[in-house]
Amino acid sequence: MREEAEPTGRFIGTAINDGLLSNSTYRGIAATEFSSVTAENAMKWDAVEPQRGQFNWAGGDRLVQFAQQNDQLVYGHTLVWHSQMPQWLQNGSFSNTELRTIMTDHVTTQAGRYRGQVQRWDVVNEAFNEDGTFRQSKFYQQLGESYIADAFRAARAADPNAKLFINDYNTEVRNAKSDGLFRLVQRLKSQGVPIDGVGFQSHLIVGNVNGPAIQQNLQRFADLGLEVAITELDIRMRTPSDSTKLQQQARDYRAVADACLAVSACSGITVWGISDRDSWVPGTFPGEGDACPWDSDYRPKPAYEALKAAFADAGGGPGDGPDDPGDEPDEPDEPDDPNACTAVFTVSNRWATGSVVSVTVRTTQALNGWRAEFELPAGVTVANGWNGSFSQSGNRVTVTNAAYNGTVQAGGTVSFGFQTGGGSAQDGTAVSLGGQRCAAG
Ligand code: G3I
Repeated sequence: MREEAEPTGRFIGTAINDGLLSNSTYRGIAATEFSSVTAENAMKWDAVEPQRGQFNWAGGDRLVQFAQQNDQLVYGHTLVWHSQMPQWLQNGSFSNTELRTIMTDHVTTQAGRYRGQVQRWDVVNEAFNEDGTFRQSKFYQQLGESYIADAFRAARAADPNAKLFINDYNTEVRNAKSDGLFRLVQRLKSQGVPIDGVGFQSHLIVGNVNGPAIQQNLQRFADLGLEVAITELDIRMRTPSDSTKLQQQARDYRAVADACLAVSACSGITVWGISDRDSWVPGTFPGEGDACPWDSDYRPKPAYEALKAAFADAGGGPGDGPDDPGDEPDEPDEPDDPNACTAVFTVSNRWATGSVVSVTVRTTQALNGWRAEFELPAGVTVANGWNGSFSQSGNRVTVTNAAYNGTVQAGGTVSFGFQTGGGSAQDGTAVSLGGQRCAAG
C-alpha cells in the first residue's frame, strides 16, 4: 500500500504492537506496507512514566528506531488522556497547581525526548463525551478546559516542528460530539493556541460507514485551517466472517479512504493494527472482530486490496493534472476555463495589527500539485501559514501545496490559512489557482 499511497502525498500508517516486532511476518508487513507508525500502547502515560518523574523510553525508542530503519514517519500517541494513566497519577490527589505542573512536565519531557523524531502528536486524546460536553477526566475536573490549551502550548515549546493534534472517536461524521470538538477547535484557533490538526480515530462497524458524510465532516475541520487525518481505522463485524461481510468491509474501507483522499488537508490514514489476530476489538466487543486489513494468518483481506486500490486510483500518473510538475515553470496556464475554480477568502479574526485568514478553493479539474496566488493590502505580510508553503513578493503572495495535500480530485477543494502582520487582510480577496483567476465562491 505504501507504494500506492506515496504519489498521493498521504501517509498510510499502522498501530504497532511493540511486543510483536520480534515476529518476522508482522515486522515485514509493518516495514513494507506502511509509511507511518503509531505506538499502540508504548508511548502512553502508564508505559512512559510508571513512577512520577521516572521515565521508561524502551518501547517508544524501539518504535522510533524501527521507523528510522524503514524510512517511516512516527505518529506519537498520546500525551494527555484520561485512560491508561499510571496508578500514581490515577489514584494520587494533587492540588490544581500541582496537577497542571505534572501534566505540562510530562508533555514537555516526552515531546522533548522525541523532538525532531515524531512528526505528529496526539496531544490530547478523547476529551469529549458523546453529547459534545467535556469528558469529566481528572484533568478537566480539576483544571477545566484550559488543560487542553496548556498541553498544546507545552508540546509546541518542546518540539516546535511536530504537528499537534487533538484526537477522538465517534467524531467522524457530523454529530453532537464532533460539533463539540469543532467549537473547541474554533476557540483554540481564535485564542492562538498552537493546534495543527484533528485526528478522527474511525473505529467503525461494517455496513455502517457513510463516506460522503465523513468527507463533509473532515472538510469542515479542514476549512478551519487544520490538517485532518484518519488515525485509528478499523471496521469490525460480528464474527465469524463470511465472504459477504468481507466484501462489505472492503467497500467500507474504500469509502473511508476515498473520503480522506477527497479532502486536500487530509494527510493520511492509520489503521489500528495489522492483523485480526492482534486487534483490541474482540477483547472489548465480545462476538465482534475481524476488523483489520490482514486476517489472523497475516493473509491480506479484501479490505487490504480496497485500501490499496483507493490510493492507486487517486495517485494519478505524470501529466494528468493541470499543474503537473512537468509544466513549464511559472508559465500561467491558459485561462481556457473561466469556471475552473471558485475561491472563498475569509478573515476569521482581525485585530489592529493582524488577522487570521482561511482560504478554500474548489477546483473542477484534478490537481497533482497546486499553486495559489493573491494580493494583500500594502504593508500587510504573511506572518505564518499552514497547509501550504508561502512566499511573498511585495504584496503578492504565492502558496504551493504542502507534501501531503498536493493531490486533489476533480470537484475537490484546497484549503490553507495564514496569519498576517502589519494589518488585516480583506474578506473576498481574489485568488488564482495555477494562473487562472477563480470565481468568488
Ligand atoms: O501491559 C499489560 C500487561 O502487563 C498485563 O499483563 C496485561 C493483562 O491484561 O495487560 C497489559 O496491558 C494491556 C495493554 O493494552 C497493553 O497490551 C491492557 O490490559 C489493555 O487494556 C490495553 O489495551 C489497549 C487499549 O487502547 C487501552 O485503552 C489496546 O491495546 C489499544 O489498542 C487501545 O487503543 C485505543 C487507543 O489508544 C485510543 N483510541 C481507542 C483505541 C482502542 O481502544
